[in-house]
Amino acid sequence: MIGGTAYAKINLGLRVGGLREDGFHSVNGVFQSIDLSDSLTLDSAEVDSILTSGGKSVPEGLDNLAFRAAAAVREYAGVTQPLAMTLDKRIPTAAGLGGGSADAAAALGMAGTYFSTGRGVLESIAPRLGSDVPFCLRGGTAQVGGRGESVTSIEDLGGFALGLVVPPFEIATPKVFAAWDQLDDPSGLHVGDIDLPPALRGEGGLVNDLYPAAVALAPDIDDWRRDLVTRWGRAVMLSGSGPALYAFFIDKEEAADAIEVAPVGARLAEAVDLHPVGWSLAT
Ligand code: C5P
Repeated sequence: MIGGTAYAKINLGLRVGGLREDGFHSVNGVFQSIDLSDSLTLDSAEVDSILTSGGKSVPEGLDNLAFRAAAAVREYAGVTQPLAMTLDKRIPTAAGLGGGSADAAAALGMAGTYFSTGRGVLESIAPRLGSDVPFCLRGGTAQVGGRGESVTSIEDLGGFALGLVVPPFEIATPKVFAAWDQLDDPSGLHVGDIDLPPALRGEGGLVNDLYPAAVALAPDIDDWRRDLVTRWGRAVMLSGSGPALYAFFIDKEEAADAIEVAPVGARLAEAVDLHPVGWSLAT
């Protein structure tokens, strides 16, 4: 049996370009793995199965992106060995934290180890699974472009931690991109250097262009953001298509103090550190 850990990501700003011919939007921004994770196991079995954290085996779960990732590696390896996957989820779903993509990337890595396939194979499968999977396979800190498939690792960031709050509703990413088109390609709120940790200064500030689109779909996001700005006395950003919101603190202790005064009712409210990888094998 192989165990693995899948780390969530945040977007340190996200600029969105026009709609491409393939139906995706070009994006540009720094993606960062964070220390909030799901756990997976992969083992040989009599039949394919996936057991999720609720303790309930979901037959249709074989459509789960993580299982499809493992099955794609198996197919490449030219074998038919049935697989049993378990997935213990902590990363909130449909939150803008890339949880499903992180699980898929970890499953690619685990299946790659199991079936002894090279990293190049995993990198070729990743974009077929989803736009954020190539980043999650690489992990750490990276400049991401294209529709998400262009991933250039950059030096690890440091000197700050995050206060992360996920409001109590889900948002579907395709709807946010569609709303962005309907709103005529809006720009997001600008967070200037003065509100950023030193490691993020000098690039002209951060902007998430999906913010107006996410708020158009779920106006409560703006209430949650304003409430956090008041409570924390600092800029609060949206991750990806949301609704996850975060702010920068000097370290995890300071972020934990901020979480103490976060509004009640969030799906998740946690102080998190940055993480240097997108997935890892359990030792
Ligand atoms: O690639 P993924 O399945 O995560 O994307 C979900 C949806 O989000 C896409 O079908 C598309 O509608 C939208 N999307 C986009 N441009 C991107 C990434 C996602 O329009 N770069």
